[in-house]
Amino acid sequence: MAAARRTLRWVAVAAAAVAAALALDNGLARTPPMGWLHWERFLCGTDCAAEPRRCVSEQLFVEMADRMAAEGWRDAGYEFICIDDCWMAPTRDKQGRLQADPARFPGGIRKLADYVHSKGLKLGIYSDVGTKTCAGFPGSYNHYDLDAQTFASWGVDLLKFDGCNSDSLEQLAEGYRLMSLALNKTGRSIVYSCEWPFYLRPVQKPNYTEIKQYCNHWRNFYDVYDSWSSIKSILDWTALHQDTIVKIAGPGGWNDPDMASTATCIPLEASAKKTFHQLLAENGKGENWGRNMEGKGSDGTLGSGSCLHKQYQLRTQLVIGNFGLSWDQSVTQMAMWAIMAAPLFMSNDLRHISPEAKWLLQNKEVIAINQDPLGKQGYQLFKDKNFQLWERPLSGRAYAVAVLNQQEIGGPQKFTFSLTFLGNGLACNPACSIRQLLPASRDCGVYSWISSLSVEVNPTGTVLLKVLPL
Ligand code: GLA
Repeated sequence: MAAARRTLRWVAVAAAAVAAALALDNGLARTPPMGWLHWERFLCGTDCAAEPRRCVSEQLFVEMADRMAAEGWRDAGYEFICIDDCWMAPTRDKQGRLQADPARFPGGIRKLADYVHSKGLKLGIYSDVGTKTCAGFPGSYNHYDLDAQTFASWGVDLLKFDGCNSDSLEQLAEGYRLMSLALNKTGRSIVYSCEWPFYLRPVQKPNYTEIKQYCNHWRNFYDVYDSWSSIKSILDWTALHQDTIVKIAGPGGWNDPDMASTATCIPLEASAKKTFHQLLAENGKGENWGRNMEGKGSDGTLGSGSCLHKQYQLRTQLVIGNFGLSWDQSVTQMAMWAIMAAPLFMSNDLRHISPEAKWLLQNKEVIAINQDPLGKQGYQLFKDKNFQLWERPLSGRAYAVAVLNQQEIGGPQKFTFSLTFLGNGLACNPACSIRQLLPASRDCGVYSWISSLSVEVNPTGTVLLKVLPL
Protein backbone atom coordinates (compact mmCIF):
# COMPACT_ATOMS: atom_id res chain seq x y z
CA MET A 1 0.00 0.00 0.00
CA ALA A 2 2.72 2.40 1.06
CA ALA A 3 4.79 1.36 -1.94
CA ALA A 4 1.82 1.95 -4.25
CA ARG A 5 1.27 5.38 -2.71
CA ARG A 6 4.94 6.24 -3.16
CA THR A 7 4.84 5.12 -6.80
CA LEU A 8 1.76 7.22 -7.40
CA ARG A 9 3.46 10.20 -5.82
CA TRP A 10 6.49 9.69 -8.02
CA VAL A 11 4.36 9.45 -11.15
CA ALA A 12 2.56 12.60 -10.08
CA VAL A 13 5.82 14.43 -9.50
CA ALA A 14 7.33 13.28 -12.77
CA ALA A 15 4.17 14.29 -14.62
CA ALA A 16 4.20 17.65 -12.91
CA ALA A 17 7.82 18.16 -13.94
CA VAL A 18 7.05 17.29 -17.54
CA ALA A 19 4.02 19.56 -17.52
CA ALA A 20 6.30 22.45 -16.51
CA ALA A 21 4.56 23.19 -13.23
CA LEU A 22 5.20 26.69 -11.94
CA ALA A 23 6.73 25.70 -8.61
CA LEU A 24 7.94 22.56 -6.92
CA ASP A 25 4.66 20.91 -6.11
CA ASN A 26 5.40 19.74 -2.56
CA GLY A 27 3.17 22.26 -0.80
CA LEU A 28 6.11 23.61 1.24
CA ALA A 29 7.76 27.00 1.68
CA ARG A 30 4.63 28.98 0.82
CA THR A 31 6.43 31.84 2.56
CA PRO A 32 10.24 32.04 2.83
CA PRO A 33 11.46 29.41 5.31
CA MET A 34 12.90 30.75 8.58
CA GLY A 35 15.35 29.17 10.95
CA TRP A 36 18.94 28.84 12.07
CA LEU A 37 21.82 27.34 10.10
CA HIS A 38 25.20 26.63 11.61
CA TRP A 39 27.56 27.44 8.72
CA GLU A 40 28.51 31.12 8.77
CA ARG A 41 29.00 31.19 12.55
CA PHE A 42 30.39 27.71 13.28
CA LEU A 43 31.90 26.59 9.94
CA CYS A 44 33.52 23.16 10.01
CA GLY A 45 34.58 22.89 13.64
CA THR A 46 35.20 19.21 14.30
CA ASP A 47 37.60 19.34 17.26
CA CYS A 48 35.20 18.98 20.16
CA ALA A 49 38.01 18.20 22.60
CA ALA A 50 39.59 21.60 22.02
CA GLU A 51 36.39 23.57 21.36
CA PRO A 52 33.45 21.79 22.94
CA ARG A 53 31.06 24.72 22.61
CA ARG A 54 31.97 25.59 19.06
CA CYS A 55 32.28 22.28 17.26
CA VAL A 56 29.58 20.91 14.95
CA SER A 57 27.96 18.45 17.35
CA GLU A 58 24.72 17.13 18.74
CA GLN A 59 25.29 19.34 21.78
CA LEU A 60 25.46 22.49 19.65
CA PHE A 61 22.11 21.76 17.99
CA VAL A 62 20.46 20.71 21.26
CA GLU A 63 21.59 23.95 22.90
CA MET A 64 20.40 26.06 19.95
CA ALA A 65 17.07 24.21 19.87
CA ASP A 66 16.64 24.91 23.59
CA ARG A 67 17.28 28.61 23.02
CA MET A 68 15.03 28.73 19.97
CA ALA A 69 12.14 27.29 21.93
CA ALA A 70 12.72 29.16 25.18
CA GLU A 71 13.72 32.61 24.00
CA GLY A 72 11.06 33.56 21.53
CA TRP A 73 12.81 32.50 18.29
CA ARG A 74 10.40 29.69 17.44
CA ASP A 75 7.44 31.85 18.32
CA ALA A 76 8.78 34.62 16.07
CA GLY A 77 8.72 32.11 13.16
CA TYR A 78 12.23 30.62 13.15
CA GLU A 79 11.14 26.99 12.90
CA PHE A 80 14.04 25.13 11.23
CA ILE A 81 17.27 24.32 13.00
CA CYS A 82 19.67 23.31 10.27
CA ILE A 83 22.86 21.31 10.21
CA ASP A 84 25.27 22.38 7.46
CA ASP A 85 28.43 20.62 6.24
CA CYS A 86 30.77 18.52 8.42
CA TRP A 87 28.18 16.50 10.38
CA MET A 88 29.12 13.24 8.72
CA ALA A 89 31.54 10.45 9.46
CA PRO A 90 34.24 10.31 6.77
CA THR A 91 32.74 7.15 5.23
CA ARG A 92 29.31 5.63 4.61
CA ASP A 93 28.19 2.67 6.77
CA LYS A 94 28.25 -0.99 5.69
CA GLN A 95 24.86 -0.62 3.96
CA GLY A 96 26.16 2.39 2.06
CA ARG A 97 24.16 4.91 4.10
CA LEU A 98 25.40 8.27 5.26
CA GLN A 99 26.14 8.32 8.97
CA ALA A 100 26.75 11.07 11.46
CA ASP A 101 30.18 11.32 13.06
CA PRO A 102 29.71 8.99 16.04
CA ALA A 103 31.86 10.99 18.45
CA ARG A 104 30.21 14.34 17.73
CA PHE A 105 26.66 13.00 17.31
CA PRO A 106 26.59 10.07 19.74
CA GLY A 107 22.80 9.70 19.61
CA GLY A 108 22.64 9.89 15.79
CA ILE A 109 20.45 12.17 13.70
CA ARG A 110 17.19 10.33 14.38
CA LYS A 111 17.49 11.07 18.11
CA LEU A 112 18.42 14.70 17.42
CA ALA A 113 15.41 15.06 15.11
CA ASP A 114 13.15 13.65 17.83
CA TYR A 115 14.55 16.15 20.30
CA VAL A 116 14.15 19.06 17.87
CA HIS A 117 10.56 17.97 17.13
CA SER A 118 9.80 17.73 20.86
CA LYS A 119 10.66 21.44 21.04
CA GLY A 120 8.15 22.26 18.31
CA LEU A 121 10.95 22.83 15.77
CA LYS A 122 12.01 21.15 12.53
CA LEU A 123 15.41 19.72 11.59
CA GLY A 124 17.41 20.57 8.48
CA ILE A 125 20.37 18.61 7.17
CA TYR A 126 23.04 19.09 4.50
CA SER A 127 24.40 17.02 1.65
CA ASP A 128 25.93 17.58 -1.77
CA VAL A 129 24.99 16.68 -5.32
CA GLY A 130 28.57 15.62 -6.17
CA THR A 131 30.94 12.93 -4.97
CA LYS A 132 31.99 14.93 -1.91
CA THR A 133 30.61 17.85 0.07
CA CYS A 134 32.42 21.18 -0.20
CA ALA A 135 34.35 20.31 2.98
CA GLY A 136 35.27 16.84 1.67
CA PHE A 137 32.73 14.56 3.41
CA PRO A 138 30.82 11.88 1.43
CA GLY A 139 28.54 13.39 -1.24
CA SER A 140 25.22 12.02 -2.50
CA TYR A 141 26.25 11.36 -6.13
CA ASN A 142 24.89 7.96 -7.17
CA HIS A 143 23.04 7.66 -3.84
CA TYR A 144 20.19 10.12 -4.25
CA ASP A 145 17.36 7.70 -3.46
CA LEU A 146 19.15 6.05 -0.58
CA ASP A 147 20.13 9.37 0.99
CA ALA A 148 16.64 10.81 0.60
CA GLN A 149 15.20 7.69 2.24
CA THR A 150 17.78 7.87 5.03
CA PHE A 151 16.94 11.53 5.73
CA ALA A 152 13.21 10.77 5.69
CA SER A 153 13.68 7.80 8.03
CA TRP A 154 15.50 10.07 10.47
CA GLY A 155 12.65 12.59 10.44
CA VAL A 156 14.52 15.35 8.60
CA ASP A 157 12.39 18.31 7.43
CA LEU A 158 14.74 20.28 5.15
CA LEU A 159 17.70 19.41 2.95
CA LYS A 160 20.32 21.96 1.95
CA PHE A 161 21.87 20.42 -1.15
CA ASP A 162 25.24 21.89 -2.08
CA GLY A 163 26.87 21.80 -5.51
CA CYS A 164 30.56 20.98 -5.07
CA ASN A 165 32.41 18.15 -6.82
CA SER A 166 30.35 17.23 -9.88
CA ASP A 167 32.18 16.16 -13.06
CA SER A 168 30.03 18.28 -15.36
CA LEU A 169 27.21 20.79 -15.34
CA GLU A 170 24.91 18.16 -16.84
CA GLN A 171 25.71 15.85 -13.94
CA LEU A 172 25.09 18.68 -11.49
CA ALA A 173 21.71 19.56 -13.01
CA GLU A 174 20.66 15.93 -13.24
CA GLY A 175 21.65 15.41 -9.60
CA TYR A 176 19.55 18.35 -8.44
CA ARG A 177 16.55 16.98 -10.37
CA LEU A 178 17.01 13.44 -9.15
CA MET A 179 17.31 14.46 -5.50
CA SER A 180 14.11 16.51 -5.77
CA LEU A 181 12.28 13.47 -7.14
CA ALA A 182 13.91 11.21 -4.55
CA LEU A 183 12.74 13.47 -1.71
CA ASN A 184 9.21 13.46 -3.06
CA LYS A 185 9.26 9.69 -3.39
CA THR A 186 9.88 9.33 0.34
CA GLY A 187 6.42 10.73 1.05
CA ARG A 188 7.86 12.96 3.82
CA SER A 189 7.56 16.75 3.61
CA ILE A 190 11.15 17.92 3.14
CA VAL A 191 11.94 21.49 2.08
CA TYR A 192 14.54 21.36 -0.70
CA SER A 193 17.19 24.10 -0.62
CA CYS A 194 19.47 24.20 -3.67
CA GLU A 195 22.63 25.97 -4.81
CA TRP A 196 22.08 24.92 -8.42
CA PRO A 197 22.09 28.36 -10.11
CA PHE A 198 25.15 29.52 -8.19
CA TYR A 199 27.26 26.65 -9.50
CA LEU A 200 25.88 26.98 -13.05
CA ARG A 201 26.20 30.71 -13.39
CA PRO A 202 29.90 31.09 -14.21
CA VAL A 203 29.37 28.97 -17.35
CA GLN A 204 25.67 28.97 -18.16
CA LYS A 205 22.61 31.15 -17.62
CA PRO A 206 20.41 29.31 -15.11
CA ASN A 207 16.97 28.31 -16.28
CA TYR A 208 15.03 29.59 -13.29
CA THR A 209 11.70 28.30 -14.57
CA GLU A 210 13.14 24.81 -14.42
CA ILE A 211 14.96 25.34 -11.11
CA LYS A 212 11.74 26.48 -9.49
CA GLN A 213 10.07 23.24 -10.53
CA TYR A 214 12.57 21.30 -8.46
CA CYS A 215 13.69 23.49 -5.55
CA ASN A 216 11.98 25.44 -2.75
CA HIS A 217 14.80 27.98 -2.65
CA TRP A 218 18.07 28.44 -4.44
CA ARG A 219 21.32 30.29 -3.86
CA ASN A 220 22.48 32.55 -6.70
CA PHE A 221 25.62 34.09 -5.33
CA TYR A 222 28.66 33.60 -3.10
CA ASP A 223 28.49 32.66 0.58
CA VAL A 224 27.60 35.48 2.94
CA TYR A 225 30.42 36.59 5.22
CA ASP A 226 30.14 38.50 8.45
CA SER A 227 31.17 41.75 6.78
CA TRP A 228 29.59 44.82 5.25
CA SER A 229 31.37 44.24 1.95
CA SER A 230 29.70 40.84 1.70
CA ILE A 231 26.22 42.24 2.41
CA LYS A 232 26.85 45.03 -0.12
CA SER A 233 27.98 42.61 -2.80
CA ILE A 234 24.85 40.46 -2.32
CA LEU A 235 22.61 43.53 -2.62
CA ASP A 236 24.49 44.82 -5.68
CA TRP A 237 24.29 41.43 -7.38
CA THR A 238 20.58 41.16 -6.64
CA ALA A 239 19.84 44.63 -8.03
CA LEU A 240 21.92 43.94 -11.14
CA HIS A 241 20.01 40.72 -11.88
CA GLN A 242 16.58 41.77 -10.65
CA ASP A 243 14.98 41.65 -14.09
CA THR A 244 15.68 37.92 -14.22
CA ILE A 245 15.30 36.77 -10.63
CA VAL A 246 12.55 38.86 -9.01
CA LYS A 247 9.71 37.63 -11.19
CA ILE A 248 10.52 34.00 -10.56
CA ALA A 249 10.18 34.19 -6.76
CA GLY A 250 6.86 33.34 -5.15
CA PRO A 251 5.08 30.90 -2.86
CA GLY A 252 6.94 27.58 -3.04
CA GLY A 253 10.17 28.96 -4.57
CA TRP A 254 12.51 31.74 -3.41
CA ASN A 255 15.80 33.37 -4.30
CA ASP A 256 18.16 32.76 -1.39
CA PRO A 257 20.74 35.48 -0.68
CA ASP A 258 22.17 33.28 2.14
CA MET A 259 22.20 33.55 5.90
CA ALA A 260 21.58 36.51 8.15
CA SER A 261 24.69 36.83 10.25
CA THR A 262 23.16 39.78 12.09
CA ALA A 263 24.56 39.82 15.59
CA THR A 264 26.24 42.53 17.53
CA CYS A 265 27.36 40.57 20.54
CA ILE A 266 30.92 39.65 21.37
CA PRO A 267 31.00 36.61 23.66
CA LEU A 268 33.70 36.44 26.26
CA GLU A 269 35.47 33.21 27.07
CA ALA A 270 35.67 32.33 30.77
CA SER A 271 39.44 32.65 30.49
CA ALA A 272 39.01 36.34 29.65
CA LYS A 273 37.96 37.04 33.25
CA LYS A 274 38.41 40.74 32.85
CA THR A 275 36.42 43.62 34.20
CA PHE A 276 34.36 45.70 31.88
CA HIS A 277 36.73 48.62 32.39
CA GLN A 278 39.78 46.50 31.55
CA LEU A 279 38.09 45.45 28.32
CA LEU A 280 37.22 49.02 27.51
CA ALA A 281 40.80 50.07 28.08
CA GLU A 282 42.14 47.30 25.86
CA ASN A 283 39.60 47.38 23.10
CA GLY A 284 38.15 50.70 22.44
CA LYS A 285 38.56 53.63 24.75
CA GLY A 286 36.19 56.37 23.83
CA GLU A 287 33.99 54.09 21.75
CA ASN A 288 30.36 53.65 22.58
CA TRP A 289 30.30 50.23 24.24
CA GLY A 290 27.46 48.58 26.03
CA ARG A 291 27.21 45.24 27.75
CA ASN A 292 24.82 42.63 28.87
CA MET A 293 25.11 42.20 32.61
CA GLU A 294 24.35 38.50 32.42
CA GLY A 295 27.35 36.48 33.60
CA LYS A 296 28.93 39.19 35.67
CA GLY A 297 30.81 37.54 38.55
CA SER A 298 30.70 38.76 42.16
CA ASP A 299 34.28 40.01 41.72
CA GLY A 300 33.13 42.30 38.93
CA THR A 301 34.74 40.23 36.17
CA LEU A 302 32.81 39.07 33.14
CA GLY A 303 32.48 35.30 32.78
CA SER A 304 31.71 33.06 29.83
CA GLY A 305 28.03 33.95 29.89
CA SER A 306 28.80 37.60 29.32
CA CYS A 307 28.16 39.46 26.19
CA LEU A 308 29.84 42.64 25.06
CA HIS A 309 28.48 44.64 22.21
CA LYS A 310 29.13 47.89 20.49
CA GLN A 311 26.03 50.02 20.39
CA TYR A 312 24.92 52.30 17.63
CA GLN A 313 28.39 52.99 16.28
CA LEU A 314 29.70 52.88 12.79
CA ARG A 315 33.21 51.50 12.82
CA THR A 316 33.47 47.99 11.48
CA GLN A 317 36.72 47.27 13.23
CA LEU A 318 36.84 43.77 14.67
CA VAL A 319 38.00 43.79 18.22
CA ILE A 320 37.77 40.61 20.26
CA GLY A 321 35.01 38.75 18.48
CA ASN A 322 34.36 37.86 14.87
CA PHE A 323 31.32 40.04 14.35
CA GLY A 324 31.67 42.29 11.38
CA LEU A 325 28.40 44.20 11.13
CA SER A 326 27.67 47.44 12.95
CA TRP A 327 24.19 48.12 14.27
CA ASP A 328 23.18 50.06 11.16
CA GLN A 329 24.53 47.36 8.87
CA SER A 330 22.58 44.74 10.81
CA VAL A 331 19.45 46.87 10.34
CA THR A 332 20.22 47.01 6.63
CA GLN A 333 20.59 43.26 6.36
CA MET A 334 17.32 42.58 8.21
CA ALA A 335 15.40 45.22 6.22
CA MET A 336 16.76 44.13 2.86
CA TRP A 337 16.26 40.40 3.52
CA ALA A 338 12.61 41.31 4.19
CA ILE A 339 12.39 43.35 0.97
CA MET A 340 13.97 40.48 -1.00
CA ALA A 341 11.51 37.86 0.38
CA ALA A 342 14.60 35.95 1.42
CA PRO A 343 14.64 32.72 3.37
CA LEU A 344 15.55 33.96 6.84
CA PHE A 345 18.22 31.74 8.31
CA MET A 346 20.23 33.20 11.13
CA SER A 347 23.76 32.02 11.65
CA ASN A 348 24.79 33.28 15.05
CA ASP A 349 25.25 32.02 18.57
CA LEU A 350 21.90 32.20 20.29
CA ARG A 351 23.62 31.53 23.63
CA HIS A 352 25.33 34.92 23.36
CA ILE A 353 23.23 37.49 21.67
CA SER A 354 22.69 41.12 22.54
CA PRO A 355 19.22 42.45 23.33
CA GLU A 356 19.50 44.74 20.28
CA ALA A 357 20.24 41.89 17.87
CA LYS A 358 17.39 39.89 19.39
CA TRP A 359 15.02 42.83 19.05
CA LEU A 360 15.99 43.19 15.40
CA LEU A 361 15.83 39.51 14.47
CA GLN A 362 12.56 38.96 16.33
CA ASN A 363 10.92 42.16 15.09
CA LYS A 364 7.35 41.10 14.33
CA GLU A 365 6.56 43.87 11.83
CA VAL A 366 9.72 43.25 9.81
CA ILE A 367 9.20 39.48 9.86
CA ALA A 368 5.62 40.07 8.67
CA ILE A 369 7.05 41.84 5.61
CA ASN A 370 9.49 39.00 4.98
CA GLN A 371 6.63 36.51 5.31
CA ASP A 372 4.00 38.50 3.42
CA PRO A 373 1.53 35.99 1.90
CA LEU A 374 1.47 37.70 -1.51
CA GLY A 375 4.99 36.33 -1.90
CA LYS A 376 6.31 38.96 -4.29
CA GLN A 377 10.01 39.79 -4.08
CA GLY A 378 10.99 43.47 -3.88
CA TYR A 379 13.27 45.33 -6.26
CA GLN A 380 15.45 48.41 -6.51
CA LEU A 381 13.63 51.47 -7.87
CA PHE A 382 16.41 54.01 -7.80
CA LYS A 383 20.09 54.33 -7.02
CA ASP A 384 22.51 57.24 -7.03
CA LYS A 385 25.91 57.87 -5.49
CA ASN A 386 24.47 58.05 -1.98
CA PHE A 387 21.13 56.32 -1.77
CA GLN A 388 19.19 53.27 -2.90
CA LEU A 389 15.39 53.12 -2.89
CA TRP A 390 13.72 49.69 -2.91
CA GLU A 391 10.06 48.64 -2.74
CA ARG A 392 8.18 45.39 -2.24
CA PRO A 393 4.50 44.90 -3.07
CA LEU A 394 2.61 43.40 -0.13
CA SER A 395 -0.82 41.89 0.36
CA GLY A 396 -3.70 44.33 0.93
CA ARG A 397 -2.22 46.75 -1.66
CA ALA A 398 0.44 47.77 0.87
CA TYR A 399 4.13 48.33 0.05
CA ALA A 400 7.35 47.97 1.97
CA VAL A 401 9.86 50.67 1.10
CA ALA A 402 13.54 50.73 2.04
CA VAL A 403 15.94 53.66 1.82
CA LEU A 404 19.58 52.63 2.14
CA ASN A 405 22.32 55.19 2.67
CA GLN A 406 25.37 53.62 1.04
CA GLN A 407 27.77 56.40 1.98
CA GLU A 408 30.47 55.23 4.31
CA ILE A 409 31.54 58.67 5.38
CA GLY A 410 29.86 61.47 7.29
CA GLY A 411 26.79 61.36 9.47
CA PRO A 412 23.08 60.76 8.89
CA GLN A 413 21.90 62.03 5.49
CA LYS A 414 18.47 63.26 4.47
CA PHE A 415 16.78 61.61 1.47
CA THR A 416 13.61 63.10 0.03
CA PHE A 417 11.50 61.22 -2.48
CA SER A 418 8.15 61.64 -4.16
CA LEU A 419 5.41 59.20 -3.17
CA THR A 420 3.76 59.58 -6.59
CA PHE A 421 5.90 56.91 -8.20
CA LEU A 422 5.76 54.22 -5.52
CA GLY A 423 4.02 51.02 -6.60
CA ASN A 424 3.81 52.21 -10.19
CA GLY A 425 1.80 55.21 -9.04
CA LEU A 426 -0.62 53.12 -6.99
CA ALA A 427 0.94 52.75 -3.53
CA CYS A 428 -0.18 56.12 -2.22
CA ASN A 429 -3.08 56.84 -4.51
CA PRO A 430 -5.04 58.90 -3.57
CA ALA A 431 -3.47 58.82 -0.07
CA CYS A 432 -1.61 56.53 2.31
CA SER A 433 -0.48 56.18 5.87
CA ILE A 434 3.19 55.52 6.46
CA ARG A 435 4.81 53.71 9.33
CA GLN A 436 8.54 53.45 9.92
CA LEU A 437 9.59 49.97 11.11
CA LEU A 438 13.38 50.30 11.22
CA PRO A 439 15.70 51.43 12.68
CA ALA A 440 12.93 52.20 15.20
CA SER A 441 9.17 52.02 14.87
CA ARG A 442 7.03 55.14 14.65
CA ASP A 443 3.99 56.36 12.76
CA CYS A 444 4.94 58.96 10.17
CA GLY A 445 1.37 60.06 9.41
CA VAL A 446 -0.91 60.41 6.39
CA TYR A 447 0.32 61.54 2.98
CA SER A 448 -1.29 62.35 -0.34
CA TRP A 449 -0.26 61.05 -3.75
CA ILE A 450 1.59 64.23 -4.60
CA SER A 451 3.54 64.46 -1.31
CA SER A 452 7.20 63.89 -0.75
CA LEU A 453 8.71 62.11 2.20
CA SER A 454 12.05 62.86 3.84
CA VAL A 455 13.95 60.33 5.91
CA GLU A 456 17.27 60.58 7.70
CA VAL A 457 19.46 57.52 7.21
CA ASN A 458 22.70 56.65 8.97
CA PRO A 459 25.71 55.71 6.85
CA THR A 460 25.37 52.04 5.73
CA GLY A 461 21.98 51.99 7.46
CA THR A 462 18.46 51.60 6.13
CA VAL A 463 15.09 53.11 6.95
CA LEU A 464 12.33 50.56 6.40
CA LEU A 465 8.80 51.85 5.88
CA LYS A 466 5.37 50.32 5.39
CA VAL A 467 3.03 52.24 3.12
CA LEU A 468 -0.69 51.45 3.57
CA PRO A 469 -3.28 52.66 1.07
CA LEU A 470 -6.13 54.81 2.34
C1 GLA B 1 29.50 26.02 0.34
C2 GLA B 1 28.13 26.62 0.63
C3 GLA B 1 28.09 27.13 2.06
C4 GLA B 1 28.39 26.00 3.02
C5 GLA B 1 29.72 25.35 2.67
C6 GLA B 1 29.96 24.09 3.47
O1 GLA B 1 30.50 26.98 0.37
O2 GLA B 1 27.87 27.66 -0.27
O3 GLA B 1 26.84 27.71 2.35
O4 GLA B 1 27.34 25.07 2.98
O5 GLA B 1 29.79 25.00 1.30
O6 GLA B 1 31.15 23.44 3.12
